[in-house]
Amino acid sequence: MASQEQIQSAAQIIKAGGLVAFPTETVYGLGADALNSIAVAKIFIEKERPSFDPLIVHISNIKEIEQLVKDFDSRINTLANAFWPGPLTIVLPKSDIVPHIATSGLPTVGIRMPRNEIALELIKASGCPIAAPSANKFGRISPTTAAHVRKQLTGVECVLDGGACEVGIESTVISLNPDGFVILREGFITQANLEKVIPKSKEEIANSPVASPGLLESHYSPEKPLFLVDINSMSRTEQLNYLCSNNRLPKGNGAFISFSGKLLPGFTLTEYLSKEGNLKEAAINLFGILHKLEDNPNIDFIVAETVPLEGIGRAIMDKLNKAAHRYKK
Ligand code: TXA
Ligand code: MG
Repeated sequence: MASQEQIQSAAQIIKAGGLVAFPTETVYGLGADALNSIAVAKIFIEKERPSFDPLIVHISNIKEIEQLVKDFDSRINTLANAFWPGPLTIVLPKSDIVPHIATSGLPTVGIRMPRNEIALELIKASGCPIAAPSANKFGRISPTTAAHVRKQLTGVECVLDGGACEVGIESTVISLNPDGFVILREGFITQANLEKVIPKSKEEIANSPVASPGLLESHYSPEKPLFLVDINSMSRTEQLNYLCSNNRLPKGNGAFISFSGKLLPGFTLTEYLSKEGNLKEAAINLFGILHKLEDNPNIDFIVAETVPLEGIGRAIMDKLNKAAHRYKK
């Protein structure tokens, strides 16, 4: 666990325009002073991230939001009271002090107050909002431990260790239309959670020029083929034949990722997102299992069981679909 001294020296790096990887409750982030264009540019270089994909700006106190947004929408307070600190990002019209590079030229900025103590301490000690994407190379698996960060971002010297992330998948990203919210990226906070607090917009699309440029079809990918299977829709015989009769699957040793606790015969290894279909547990385990299988030299390909499209299952399926995208017919 990062000590107070390590957090303080990480804050000095941020103040000096450098990069720090740090834990949040969702995934690890790669942070820089959000108001310093050159520091923010270093994030894009280190992540090999295309410049069209905007960053989330992290704050430690609701007061800090005033300087970042154009007008203070009163719904921010309602949402902040319900979900901050926590895994919700709100996209709002940005003020002039937020550099264009942080928002990829958009007139809006995504803002979030994380609830991880190390993250909050780091933002406070740095004395500035911190722009941070997930601390992985662009398109690869998101990190939920400090070791995952070190594996991909070898150029980042300061990685604050906060152990394994408590939530395990990224924040829900929303934008606000005049009549209510629109979900731009599914995450731990669900539509049902949000609807208890503010109405959902009747428009499906955000009332902003570009909805969410970072939402690509392929993302979160392990460096091995990944396929999805809905074993509940298969007969017992189909399940038994899956490995032999599926000519889409590569040769070699497969790993199966189970969600329901059920097994699919013929795999070299089985990992469990959950042993009994628990979605929260699955979210916590998802990226860690993908990293582990990516790193296992005895595994050639991965097959993952689909999860139900309900609650945070929507966010989990979003990640799985994107991770498997390259291998879809
Ligand atoms: O949980 C999280 O959100 C993590 C932790 C580190 O906070 N961060 C994260 O950042 O997942 P990143 O960069 O991997 O994903 C941020 C996504 C972008 O790809 C984009 O789709 C959306 O948030 N986003 C950010 N700013 C936006 C804006 N101004 N308008 C629309 N979408 C935006
Ligand atoms: Mg990311």
